[in-house]
Amino acid sequence: MAYHLALHQNDYKGYYNSNTDEIITTPITCTATNTPILSNGAKIVWADVDPVTGSILPDDIERKITKNTKAVTMVHWGGNPCEIEKINKIASEAGIKTVEDGAHSMGMEYKGKKFGNHSDYSMNSLQAIKHLTSVDGGLLWIKNEKDFERAKLLRWYGIDRTIREGIDLRCEIDVPEAGYKFHMNDVCAVIGNENLKHLDEILTKHRDNAKFYDEAFKNHKSITVVPENPDGKSSYWLYTIHINNRDELMAKLKELNIMSSKVHARNDTHSMFKEFKTELPGVESFNRTHLCIPVGWWVTKEQREYIAEQVIKYAK
Ligand SMILES: Cc1ncc(COP(=O)(O)O)c(C=O)c1O
Repeated sequence: MAYHLALHQNDYKGYYNSNTDEIITTPITCTATNTPILSNGAKIVWADVDPVTGSILPDDIERKITKNTKAVTMVHWGGNPCEIEKINKIASEAGIKTVEDGAHSMGMEYKGKKFGNHSDYSMNSLQAIKHLTSVDGGLLWIKNEKDFERAKLLRWYGIDRTIREGIDLRCEIDVPEAGYKFHMNDVCAVIGNENLKHLDEILTKHRDNAKFYDEAFKNHKSITVVPENPDGKSSYWLYTIHINNRDELMAKLKELNIMSSKVHARNDTHSMFKEFKTELPGVESFNRTHLCIPVGWWVTKEQREYIAEQVIKYAK
């Protein structure tokens, strides 16, 4: 939903299905970040990422802004903050909006503030395998009051659900703009609210496992750990390392019954995005060596020790 709002933030008609609008974004993510750009009829402009963290590079964003740029998206890989302040400064000077994809970032902090306080639009995922799940669903954080009010309308067909004495909202009020059916149902909301009680405990376990791996890998030359942004606090939905023999290590871990994963394919190689292809050396490098190992709340102390031992043994 964040993306629809970002694209439609001024004049709905002026923004929709334009053949010239451009969104600067990253391919190091789930396709969910980028497919809404195509659904809205806009063009994708890929920016490169840092080869170690996978975070979109502010300088490359700046280079790629044109008079057609409407928004910039950033994805906090694994919940590790991008350079949010720099990106927001560049975007605001150019008069464009910023969208944070925080699908991995529940509980992330940046420059002393919690996720959701930095950019025009930010979202968290409440899908089944995230820190906090409502079975499926998500959260949208909006800075501007007017956009927030509009989002509430777009959430449910564009109909204003405010209860007014004596007025049947389905039959007696005008609907000025086409909306969607994006509201969460009550069953999911109840599950999400119950799980929310465990969020601090869940985050603490993710972070504790990550700190354990940081320590375990720090003296191993063949393993490069993705460093936590010193200006923030990662939510460690993923723990990512870089190794030269990534595919071989993955196969070995699989034999040992240890799950490891690249998590997402670089989006720019999907055929739906082929017309936007460009040289991206940082993406190339990140994608060649990155690997995510189990870090979630379910990983026990014994398991993380065993995982670290095996990674160290087989990493080259
Ligand atoms: C970076 C990123 N963005 C968006 C999504 C989509 O989230 P949802 O399944 O809640 O729509 C995911 C899903 O894992 C993701 O990893």
